[in-house]
Amino acid sequence: MTMQFAAPQGLGASAPVSTFDAVVETAMFDQPTLVISLDRVEQQYHALKAGLGRADIHYAVKANPAPEVIARLVAVGSHFDAASRGEIELCLAQGARPYEISFGNTIKRAADVAYAHSVGVTLFAADAAEELDKIAQHAPGAQVYIRLIVETSQADWPLSRKFGCDRDMALELLDRARDLGLQAVGFSFHVGSQTRRAAMWGPTLDEMHKIWHAATEAGHNLTLLNIGGGFPAFYGQDIEAPTDYAASVMDQVSARFGEVARVMAEPGRGLVAEAGAIVAEVMLASRKSARDLHRWVYLSIGRFSGLAETDGEAIRYQISTPRDGDPMGPCVLAGPSCDSADVLYEKQPVLLPLSLSAGDRVVIRNCGAYTSSYSSVGFNGFPPLAVMVV
Ligand SMILES: Cc1ncc(COP(=O)(O)O)c(C=O)c1O
Repeated sequence: MTMQFAAPQGLGASAPVSTFDAVVETAMFDQPTLVISLDRVEQQYHALKAGLGRADIHYAVKANPAPEVIARLVAVGSHFDAASRGEIELCLAQGARPYEISFGNTIKRAADVAYAHSVGVTLFAADAAEELDKIAQHAPGAQVYIRLIVETSQADWPLSRKFGCDRDMALELLDRARDLGLQAVGFSFHVGSQTRRAAMWGPTLDEMHKIWHAATEAGHNLTLLNIGGGFPAFYGQDIEAPTDYAASVMDQVSARFGEVARVMAEPGRGLVAEAGAIVAEVMLASRKSARDLHRWVYLSIGRFSGLAETDGEAIRYQISTPRDGDPMGPCVLAGPSCDSADVLYEKQPVLLPLSLSAGDRVVIRNCGAYTSSYSSVGFNGFPPLAVMVV
């Protein structure tokens, strides 16, 4: 990646601008680049932690696995939720302690369970009998929590039924874990990513509390409630401030679960999204016919190079350009690849300056989560999203 800095325009000595802002507004990149601010990640960690209180934060590494992000989070005391051996190795290499890493994917290779156990990871997720057998064989005596399927339709990016099991099976799995010599410590769930209001957690926590109660009645001494992710980022629609949101979630947890020994939360999006912006450019602005009401604007970044969460137009990123003062008009926004699925927003077009043309800079805000980690390695020959950490 080549990069040149231009002097930030219009900035006097009295208008301090962060390195992040200066880079996002003025640095020249020869490919779409995610710029991520470590200081903003740290600020957001503290804001969430202030609301979460006694709950441990296990950052969901999948949201943004830049080594520098992990290192900064290690430095401020975060723990980590890893989805694979690769993420465990990444966290360890950045100084995380193995007992502060949970292996949260319910689908794990046996060899990776053995690896995790060998390096001192002690906490594993499961939602199936076969997975428990695997853990018992390759990580004997480990702590396990059982993931429940919960209703996620309130979330903007709901997670599918791929993960978790129902109540009855969860109770059976606790018994099985105990019989296998594992420590069945508790439950986990995920309310769905980008759950914009803390109040939306209520019905899920009610359900979880009923299941927790049933397990306790059945003789299990549960000590861990893993409340997962779901903490929102600002994409243009109102959200609560991170500390207020997290505190409200914890108030709801405490009201139902009392002083459960250990609560952990796994924010991904809510921790890193607002710390990042993608700098890209317009490749083409055109119309399909003279009568077309909408222009098509094709960007240098698309669904396969980092903006996968535009699927179904679920996540609507905020886009700014240096021409934002010009008259605006609706346009269909698309990526650069030769793939007709590479359309970002069409059902609900985006308002962009009518003067926008090829070569113009575009900045896509608050996209530090699930962009670099979703980017393909080289679909259609376009390079993966570059990352610059400031
Ligand atoms: C197990 C687990 N925990 C946490 C997260 C992070 O969720 P979010 O980005 O909504 O905070 C995910 C996301 O997929 C997940 O699978």
